[in-house]
Amino acid sequence: MPESDVVREHPGAPITKERLESDLAALGLAPGSVVLVHTRLSALGWVCGGPVAVVHALQSVLRTYGTLAMPTHSGGLSDPELWENPPVPKEWWQTIRDTMPPFDPDVTPTRGIGATPELFRTMPNVLRSIHPHVSFAAWGEKAVEVVSDHSLEFCLGEGSPLASLYDLDARVLLLGAGFASCTCFHLAEYRAEYRTKDRVILGGPIAVDGHRRWKTFPDINYSSDDFDDLGRAYLKSNPAGLAEGKVGEGDSILFSLRDAVDFAVRWLHRHRT
Ligand SMILES: CC(C)(COP(=O)(O)OP(=O)(O)OC[C@H]1O[C@@H](n2cnc3c(N)ncnc32)[C@H](O)[C@@H]1OP(=O)(O)O)[C@@H](O)C(=O)NCCC(=O)NCCS
Repeated sequence: MPESDVVREHPGAPITKERLESDLAALGLAPGSVVLVHTRLSALGWVCGGPVAVVHALQSVLRTYGTLAMPTHSGGLSDPELWENPPVPKEWWQTIRDTMPPFDPDVTPTRGIGATPELFRTMPNVLRSIHPHVSFAAWGEKAVEVVSDHSLEFCLGEGSPLASLYDLDARVLLLGAGFASCTCFHLAEYRAEYRTKDRVILGGPIAVDGHRRWKTFPDINYSSDDFDDLGRAYLKSNPAGLAEGKVGEGDSILFSLRDAVDFAVRWLHRHRT
């Protein structure tokens, strides 16, 4: 949706950083918390300063003893054989594997997850985990703990920032975004037993001793196709501590990552079997 549509569809007052701060606080985001944020900027109304104002508002509410994390996924570095948007001719696949620039935390852009994480990864004192497909960025007191030692294999499981966020008892904030983007549910896919789970081999370009290499690594066939249903079921279960409200003009939800993952483990076992 072009920005002009956002202005037309939200003719009320511009959404300021101060407005975002008071809405976030009213939703229950507390100073010192650890939070994983998913943002649909266009849903918040027209924000004065766009993603800059969103990140600054979050940082201001959390304070420096809080921790702000966002997924900074770069699906463009995945195996071209798996590409759907767009797919590329089979004859190109090997050339892409042989020449795709390696993942670089300071350079590699995010893909398809929004203007806010794309900006956030470039901001001062923001750290980024090392993974060619599913890196995360973090700022604040626990940033090192969140982004360190991101395992190449089983990349959203126990060796990932999601497991660190689980251990840190983080919150999840859906800022105008839906449960389809609720990345923490992927951690549950590694923990749950269900019939359709399968091992796969993934691949991506990484830098090893300054040299580009196409590396393959084992993982599971993780998917977010049923995350909207899972999210609806989670909401219906009336979880303690879950808060819903408007941030700017965007419907937003704040909840416990640990509680959501534990619920998802049980739900996936029942629904993917
Ligand atoms: C895909 C997704 C990012 C699309 O949301 P979106 O609002 O259309 O796009 P962005 O958040 O990138 O914001 C950019 C849009 O905001 C709008 N915009 C531009 N300036 C703006 C402003 N100042 N204020 C508000 N909206 C503005 C424009 O429509 C712009 O779209 P354009 O770049 O095509 O012109 C969103 O639906 C989503 O899924 N977010 C969560 C992503 C995530 O965390 N995924 C988890 C990992 S898979």
